[in-house]
Amino acid sequence: MTPSLNVTTHSFTDCNAQAAALAERIADRLRAALNERGHATLAVSGGSTPKNLFERLSRETLDWGRVQITLVDERWVPETDERSNARLVQSLLLQHAAANATFVPLYTGDATPEAGLATADARIAALALPFDAVVLGMGDDGHTASFFPGGDHLAEALDLDRSARVLPMHAEGAGEPRITLTLATLLETRSLYLLVSGAKKRDLLADARLGLGAARDYPVRAVLTQQRVPVAVYWCP
Ligand code: 6PG
Repeated sequence: MTPSLNVTTHSFTDCNAQAAALAERIADRLRAALNERGHATLAVSGGSTPKNLFERLSRETLDWGRVQITLVDERWVPETDERSNARLVQSLLLQHAAANATFVPLYTGDATPEAGLATADARIAALALPFDAVVLGMGDDGHTASFFPGGDHLAEALDLDRSARVLPMHAEGAGEPRITLTLATLLETRSLYLLVSGAKKRDLLADARLGLGAARDYPVRAVLTQQRVPVAVYWCP
């Protein structure tokens, strides 16, 4: 039997409207957290899809000085590298009103993610969890965060009974070595968003939800089928 999925899809006909709606939603979450607890924590993906979201979110009026921002995953490259997710967040999200937020990077400057693991783990352990919002993306191969098909630590990263917060990841499709928050850590959140665009990803997600064909084994399926946190998919063409 297909498990009943805790997934809601918000479809937009225009990608600017999608980014604006999600930016407002996240800003509301952060404001509520600041009112209730005095601090807020956000984890975001890199890649190209969230650029528009970051631009808009960075202009939202709220007390960014009490917000911590980290990444769901990072490519193991210095911030000077164009592929660095930290670089992307610094240049698009930590701007304007959000320039006062505290950024907690995963990259440590060590030679490998294995060598930097303890430091990255300590940084995440020191965050005020649960996250108020986690924003995931998805690749055409069904990866999300750095949960890549064939990844050397994939099973461990998706295993909700393990306690690891952060893991290295090496995979053929990953480009460079990665470091990723584990699924258990990502699900320690008050809200979870999956930001995707394009017909290909829409169809892939539909297959992954139903466990059809190749998508049955896509790592993103672990996010869609888990029962801990509802998933809000934000899609545009
Ligand atoms: C990364 C990401 C990754 C991303 C997807 C989608 O560092 O690569 O965090 O999980 O969300 O690869 O990337 P695009 O938005 O570029 O399609």
